[in-house]
Amino acid sequence: MSLSVTLGKITLPNPILTASGTFGYAREAAKLLDLSRLGGIVPKTITVEPRAGNKPPRTTEVTAGLLNAIGLDNDGLDDFIAHKLPYLRSIGRPIIVSVAAKKMDDCRIFAERFNVESGVTAIELNVSCPNVSGGVDFGIDPILCEKITSEMRRRLTIPFSVKLSPNVTKISDIAKAAEAGGADMISAVNTCYGLAVDWRRRRARLGNGCGGFSGPAIKPIALRCVWQIAQAVKIPIIGIGGISNVDDVMDFLVAGASAVQVGTANFFNPKVTTEILDELPIVMEQAGISDLSEIIGTLEL
Ligand SMILES: Cc1cc2nc3c(=O)[nH]c(=O)nc-3n(C[C@H](O)[C@H](O)[C@H](O)COP(=O)(O)O)c2cc1C
Repeated sequence: MSLSVTLGKITLPNPILTASGTFGYAREAAKLLDLSRLGGIVPKTITVEPRAGNKPPRTTEVTAGLLNAIGLDNDGLDDFIAHKLPYLRSIGRPIIVSVAAKKMDDCRIFAERFNVESGVTAIELNVSCPNVSGGVDFGIDPILCEKITSEMRRRLTIPFSVKLSPNVTKISDIAKAAEAGGADMISAVNTCYGLAVDWRRRRARLGNGCGGFSGPAIKPIALRCVWQIAQAVKIPIIGIGGISNVDDVMDFLVAGASAVQVGTANFFNPKVTTEILDELPIVMEQAGISDLSEIIGTLEL
């Protein structure tokens, strides 16, 4: 039985990755689970320059999920390469570095560094963060999305994925734009734009006002997005949104994802990824599947 999955030019030992922003830079989770079992790790998004992020509170629990407005708090590209990448590399599993560009030229800066750094399997270009000013511009306009994807393609020699926002009218148009721009993969989806209110104080619960909604409640939205994208593009898809158990994973694979990322579930069950990995071969055997490629994209409506 093979758990490995191939996404274009990259092969992952299994389809279970951790989602950006929900797993720190992996070191934080090292005492909680065996990192060397993961199919891959997507660390917190980095930007070229350090960012302080949004004012607190930055997260608030809501019914069936989490609302966050972290605002891409990170220490920047130089710090990532000097202090976070060496540890990530030492895990010996695929590392997909998440980056966000403020302007086109940031693609050149990221590419110049990651084209020469060893131990980075791929880049995930986050064009979908709802919590920063201008953060989703590249992800909601197909023309801008194709432009930034082409710029990344022109500069970067390793494979890259474009991470899309569900907060658009027609996600398949944005996915097609990323494919036309030369993306190797699509990651779908980021958080759903939301608001939590404390009516007694007449205030938003998050310091930033609105934020990104994640967790089990968004799974149907994310699945619909993955399925629509799968109908529209030929490049592989990494499914994200509300995944917390092995059946969720299988649902995403059937809908057209070749791998998945687990996000918010890491917060309420830090061992969720390895528990899913324990169960995956059992579920495959029950279903008579020896290779996951047999079920990817097999959904019939
Ligand atoms: C606290 C928090 C921080 C996040 N930070 C990032 C980030 O830096 N970059 C990114 O691409 N997505 C970020 N996300 C989005 C997740 O990677 C994921 O796309 C989203 O939460 C949906 O998956 P889930 O429902 O499994 O959490 C963040 C999500 C949460 C909850």
